[in-house]
Amino acid sequence: MSNSEVMEKIISLCKRRGFIFPGSEIYSGVGGIYDYGPLGVELKNNLKKEWWRNMVWEREEIVGLDSAIIMNRRVWEASGHVAAFTDPLVECRRCHQRFREDELPKLPIEKKEKMIDETKEKKSKQELLYIERAEVFCPNCHSPINLNIDEPRQFNLLMKTQLGVLEDEKNETFLRGETCQGIYVNFINILNSMRTKIPFGIAQIGKAFRNEITPGNFTFRMREFEQMEMQYFIKPEAKIAEKWFSFWKKERMDWYLSLGFSKEKLRFREHAPDERAHYAKAAFDIEYSAPFGWKEFEGIHNRGDWDLSRHSQFSGKDLTYFDEESHTKFTPWIIETSAGADRSTLFFLIDAYDEETVGKEKRVVLRLHPKIAPIKAAIFPLVKNVKLVKIAQKIAADLKSKWPIFYDESGSIGRRYRRQDEVGTPFGITVDFDSLEDKKVTVRNRDSLKQERVNVLEIKDYLENKIEAR
Ligand code: GAP
Repeated sequence: MSNSEVMEKIISLCKRRGFIFPGSEIYSGVGGIYDYGPLGVELKNNLKKEWWRNMVWEREEIVGLDSAIIMNRRVWEASGHVAAFTDPLVECRRCHQRFREDELPKLPIEKKEKMIDETKEKKSKQELLYIERAEVFCPNCHSPINLNIDEPRQFNLLMKTQLGVLEDEKNETFLRGETCQGIYVNFINILNSMRTKIPFGIAQIGKAFRNEITPGNFTFRMREFEQMEMQYFIKPEAKIAEKWFSFWKKERMDWYLSLGFSKEKLRFREHAPDERAHYAKAAFDIEYSAPFGWKEFEGIHNRGDWDLSRHSQFSGKDLTYFDEESHTKFTPWIIETSAGADRSTLFFLIDAYDEETVGKEKRVVLRLHPKIAPIKAAIFPLVKNVKLVKIAQKIAADLKSKWPIFYDESGSIGRRYRRQDEVGTPFGITVDFDSLEDKKVTVRNRDSLKQERVNVLEIKDYLENKIEAR
């Protein structure tokens, strides 16, 4: 299967089986915006829940937060995003669309000559000069672009919004471009209310917005997306920062592996100094070998004291920490782990996708870890027999209070299994005529295809052991 075929299959499966839909589809969509369907929302919620469990519940020194998407405009001036959160773009003189320089197609000589001839007829000297030195052309309106004159300019990625009814500048602010700024502005509130002692962390999951110029690769680069970020506040010393940086790199990689990612498809990539974001002293990405190349889906950054110092400077508030042990005051440094909920959902889907032949039949199977699979078990009466249906429906009702369960009594049993394999349901439970006698059901494992007889009364514990196993 070629790489583009894999993506086509994933996108089609996502649409067909209710994982991910293009946003506002009946109006021809909006670039870079997607909606999660019934199975997609379960998958993404499971991922977020597991992250929260791992980062907040299971750690003594990390607390959670849910800060607002809209903040005071000054937050974004202090954070450096108003000045530095930019992409260099070239603007077409004719249609005013903007493109990255490397996206502009080369202008073929014949095309250029034809344009020069046409321009000569119009006798515009300036235009002629412009075209003569043009090397590329606009992918939208096909006009020539002369990069010596129209050099790339910086365009900001923050998404503007208006507060209040008066559309003057005072009311203009931004939808947050990263969730962590809400954490920094609450640093003192958390210190005072939770009596946290350094080192400690604050974790948050939420939406972020960026006016990405070239959204694409399905949900890889979106304009509205979700981040799972944790900011770890430490003493301002390079050695201590190095220790925590290594610690968090390992913790984060181990977490992805514990949820079943293929090890050989994950790697770290260090950012070169000129590649780092304006706030970072050190940066490593966790990358996945996607069908469209090795791509980042989490960043681990040493942000030093950039954020707290800047917010202190811009707000005029003291954001230092008093260390009772050493009786000193300092501005903590921050080690950040910043994961994308949408990118990891996409990469979990790609990594789990498999096709195989069983007997003579081809099956598509999503080998999702049971903890993140959208539906945990499907319950089937072997045939539509009143007695079998009654038992199967009772089992389904019983399990539904704990997990998302799917009950299905239509079609052949083989077809019912295959429909569940395709959406990653780890267990298929079938009630057959023997069940009436021995009070047992057959549990089929999605991956091994092994079948086990399990007592109806023990089915909940059985699933619990398999799904929640650590
Ligand atoms: N607070 C640091 C920060 O935001 P980032 O590298 O810009 O760092 C972190 O973003 C993560 O957020 C990325 O690794 C990615 O998973 C996700 N992300 C960023 N931009 C995204 C976009 N346009 N679409 C989807 N996910 C995005």
